[in-house]
Amino acid sequence: GVCGDLQNKKILITAGPTREPIDPVRFISNRSSGKMGYALAEAAVERGGEVILISGPTCLPQPSGLYKYIRVNTALEMRECVLEYFPWSDVVIKAAAVSDFRPKNYSEYKIKKKDSATAMTLELEKNPDILKELGEKKQKQLLVGFAAETDEIKENAMEKLNKKNLDLIVVNDVTAEGAGFEVDTNIVRIYYKDGSGEEIPKMTKKELAHVILDRVVKLLKN
Ligand code: PMT
Repeated sequence: GVCGDLQNKKILITAGPTREPIDPVRFISNRSSGKMGYALAEAAVERGGEVILISGPTCLPQPSGLYKYIRVNTALEMRECVLEYFPWSDVVIKAAAVSDFRPKNYSEYKIKKKDSATAMTLELEKNPDILKELGEKKQKQLLVGFAAETDEIKENAMEKLNKKNLDLIVVNDVTAEGAGFEVDTNIVRIYYKDGSGEEIPKMTKKELAHVILDRVVKLLKN
């Protein structure tokens, strides 16, 4: 029944983890499977949107009907790609789990294990916060962020919404069973700029994608 309500809307979605290389065989990453972001991309296509999906490394098949599908590895690659298409977009939904840090030095050679060593230190440096940058650059765009939280959920979510100049934020309690990383379902709360929020009960990521897009369509009308 929601057919076509994103017609003529340009939607940029990010999904999946990023990989931050240490050496040719190792990297730092996280548990994101890409399922939430891909579900959003599929749902947005079903509703008639023109969709660009920028994806970190995942095992998921490419959704059909996309305007563009771009695979990236690192947070820096994701940033470059997102910034390129930001002026094009009416709505940006950042479901990707971007690494906050990357190894400071990439080793061209596989780092060898020294038999005498019992520990090693890996120096990290901060990655740019892509969503925060979008919040600073934003003009017409509606910005939707995600947050993976374990505690003080409302406080942390509202802080991210305000700091990154978002229109709404979708928060998963990643400690709840059937929520967050890897699973096919999610349990979230959605918070808005005025501090109001709603609890969304457990449902599949695809169903949740449609709930989020319902809220986006409503905000686009105002
Ligand atoms: O992929 P799945 O297995 O389906 O799991 C879904 C999910 C749990 C990954 C997803 O629902 C989710 O919550 N994604 C965001 C996780 C996250 O990185 O949260 P955060 O609180 O660290 O970041 C907040 C927001 O800022 C996110 O929209 C993130 O994309 C963005 N961000 C974060 C850091 C950074 N350097 N740049 C960013 O743009």
